Amino acid sequence: MKVSLIVAISKDNVIGKGGLIPWFIPRDLQHFKEITLNHPIIMGRVTFESIGRLLPNRYSIIISSKSKFHRVSDNQPIQLDNESSSSSPSSNNSNSNTTNTTASYKIVNSVESAYTFARDELRADQVFIIGGKRIYESFQSIANELIITYVDINVLDQPQQQLDNNNNSTPATVSKHDDITFYNPFESENERQKWSITKEKQFKKDENNLVDFKIVYYNK
Ligand SMILES: NC(=O)c1ccc[n+]([C@@H]2O[C@H](COP(=O)([O-])OP(=O)(O)OC[C@H]3O[C@@H](n4cnc5c(N)ncnc54)[C@H](OP(=O)(O)O)[C@@H]3O)[C@@H](O)[C@H]2O)c1
Repeated sequence: MKVSLIVAISKDNVIGKGGLIPWFIPRDLQHFKEITLNHPIIMGRVTFESIGRLLPNRYSIIISSKSKFHRVSDNQPIQLDNESSSSSPSSNNSNSNTTNTTASYKIVNSVESAYTFARDELRADQVFIIGGKRIYESFQSIANELIITYVDINVLDQPQQQLDNNNNSTPATVSKHDDITFYNPFESENERQKWSITKEKQFKKDENNLVDFKIVYYNK
C-alpha cells in the first residue's frame, strides 16, 4: 500500500494556527480533493475536529486515544464501541460506520491500527496522511510519497486579513505567542536526502488565491 503524506507549509514551517490552517487557497484545496478522492484518508482527532465534518467520497480513519468525542459541526458524539479507551492496537476498540458509503469513517486508537485497517480491511492501494503535526511525524518514516504545498508567506509576519481573503475580518498581525503548529518534514539534512522530487508545479497568486504557492511531489 502506497502511503502519501500531503501537507501545506508556509516559509516559516507553519501548518496551523489556533487549530486551523492560517490561509485559504481554493486552488490548493481543489488539488487536495482531486488526488485524495476515493482513497482512504488518515488524520488525527484535532484535524478531524477542525475540518468539522467527514469529507465525502473518502473513507476517514481518525486516530484518537479518547473513548468518544464530538463532531464540531453538529455536536453529535462519535462513540467508540469499547467505552474504556486503550492504547493497544485493536480493531475492537474502534467505531466503524460504513452505512454511508460516500462518507464512511473509523476511529482507531493507534497509528498501527490506522495503517493495518487501511491495508487489510479496506484493501487500499493508496492511503493519504492528511495531518496534523503529530500524525505527520508518526507516519513520515513509513511514507513513500510526500506531497508538499509550499505557501509563499511567513505566517508569523503576516496580517491575517491578507491570508484568508475575508474582507470583513479585522487586520491583526499574528503574534508569535499565538497557538502556532510547526512542521518541517526535512528537519534534518539526512531526512531530506532520502527524498527525490518527481513533480513540481508553480502557481501565481490571483483574485481567488491570494498567495503564490507551489506543489512538489517527492518519492523515497
Ligand atoms: N497545513 C496543513 O496541510 C494541515 C493539515 C492538517 C492539519 N493542519 C493543522 O495542524 C493542527 C493540528 O495538528 P496537531 O498535531 O495538533 O493534531 P492532530 O495530529 O490532527 O491530532 C492529534 C490528536 O490525534 C490523536 N493521536 C495522535 N497520535 C496518536 C497516537 N499515537 N495514539 C492515539 N492517538 C493519537 C490524539 O487525539 P486525542 O487527543 O483524541 O487522543 C491527538 O491529540 C491544526 O492547526 C490543523 O489545522 C494543517
